Amino acid sequence: MATSKTTYFCQNCGTQHAKWQGQCSSCKEWNTLVEEVIQKKSKTDWQGDYSNSKTKINPKPIAIQDITYEKTQRYKTVSKEFNRVLGGGIVPGSLILLGGEPGIGKSTLLLQIALKIKYKTLYVSGEESLQQIKMRADRIFKDSKNCFILSETNTQNIFQQIEKTAPELLIVDSIQTLHTNYIESSPGSVSQIKACTAELIKFAKQTNIPVILIGHINKEGSIAGPKVLEHMVDVVLQFEGDRNHMYRILRSHKNRFGSTHELGIYEMQGEGLREILNPSEILISNKNTDLSGTAIASTLEGMRTLMVEIQALVSTAVYGTPQRSTTGYNSKRLNMILAVLEKRAGFKLGAKDVFLNITGGISVDDPAIDLAVVAAILSSNEDITIEKNICFAGEVGLTGEIRPVTKIEQRILEAEKLGFEKMVISSHSKINAGKYSIAIEKVTKIEEVVSILFG
Ligand code: TYD
Ligand code: MG
Repeated sequence: MATSKTTYFCQNCGTQHAKWQGQCSSCKEWNTLVEEVIQKKSKTDWQGDYSNSKTKINPKPIAIQDITYEKTQRYKTVSKEFNRVLGGGIVPGSLILLGGEPGIGKSTLLLQIALKIKYKTLYVSGEESLQQIKMRADRIFKDSKNCFILSETNTQNIFQQIEKTAPELLIVDSIQTLHTNYIESSPGSVSQIKACTAELIKFAKQTNIPVILIGHINKEGSIAGPKVLEHMVDVVLQFEGDRNHMYRILRSHKNRFGSTHELGIYEMQGEGLREILNPSEILISNKNTDLSGTAIASTLEGMRTLMVEIQALVSTAVYGTPQRSTTGYNSKRLNMILAVLEKRAGFKLGAKDVFLNITGGISVDDPAIDLAVVAAILSSNEDITIEKNICFAGEVGLTGEIRPVTKIEQRILEAEKLGFEKMVISSHSKINAGKYSIAIEKVTKIEEVVSILFG
């Protein structure tokens, strides 16, 4: 008979403690220990002999020059955006964790992939009944032949079914609902999440079958459960976007097989998620209205250029302390830009409320949008419209100088393709100006931006 006992787990690093204490002795975080009942049995992981697997990995050490792999190794899904965010497709034997807020569309995205992928897929759901999944699947894609659904939360039972079904891809919705027989604490607890993930990793590595896990997020926005979960898996994807917004953004936070800068954009529709292959079109709103306070910036997300619209509202402060509020842009950077405008260009913005918004619900870190932020603020402050066919790419320095940005040629080409007629960039950018049909306006200092915009 196994003895049950309680221990305390740190929710940050997953370390086990015998007694409760205020600070985790391992990661030094405060108030992260939670009590859990665990059963001490001989702990076993995935032990099935998965004879149906095509390429079984031999656990003996092998000299690196002797390790072989097939060239066409990634599984392509029908979603180009999903493939790109993963760095070209799903790598066999990898463990992918997809996190996101409730209702954002995680289950829809993965069901859609499962229905349309040409590999045999087992979709295990601990969240919804078979009928619920069927209703959703009917709306998305009716003619799927390779997709099997299992409603189960016990990992041992799941592994049994896997041996019978022999899928080539496993999807689990969600890791917080799983539980293993070897641990007694409730599903969703730190020890269950760790143990179930460890079993799935072992399964994936031994059978070379990729596993995609859905993970809930906690109120701080990180994936619920121990932080070590993110260290254990190969890829961490985040599905985000305002729930009331139509667009959803898929980002990778960690990727052992590709870059983490890629971004995929989807739109939630009645028949599931639609990919947005040309995102600049949706990020620029109200192209036809003449309103002050908007400017178009060219930004880079991974390998891709995006045109985003910056909106600013500058108004006289009603209360003593002026408000500064940003959506999608770093608020400290906004303060810096306001100070530069005040000091170098003589605009008295200290007593004004400034609101800044990047449309489309995305957030941008690229400093190249600084110039458009300046333009939008000045446009709103002076109430003069910026012409719709101008876009901006430049970083603003503390002395008011406009600095060059990376991949300027790619940005210019994208602007040209989208029909912009003029682009304002730093005069230090190294480009071959004769090559483009778009007019290039070069600026050195913030004062020059003012004269370009308002004559
Ligand atoms: P869901 O995928 O269940 O989100 P998650 O698994 O991240 O919690 O559902 C997301 C929302 O999308 C849900 O509220 C209903 C909506 N939806 C559509 O608008 N169209 C559709 O075709 C589907 C399947 C869902
Ligand atoms: Mg779901």
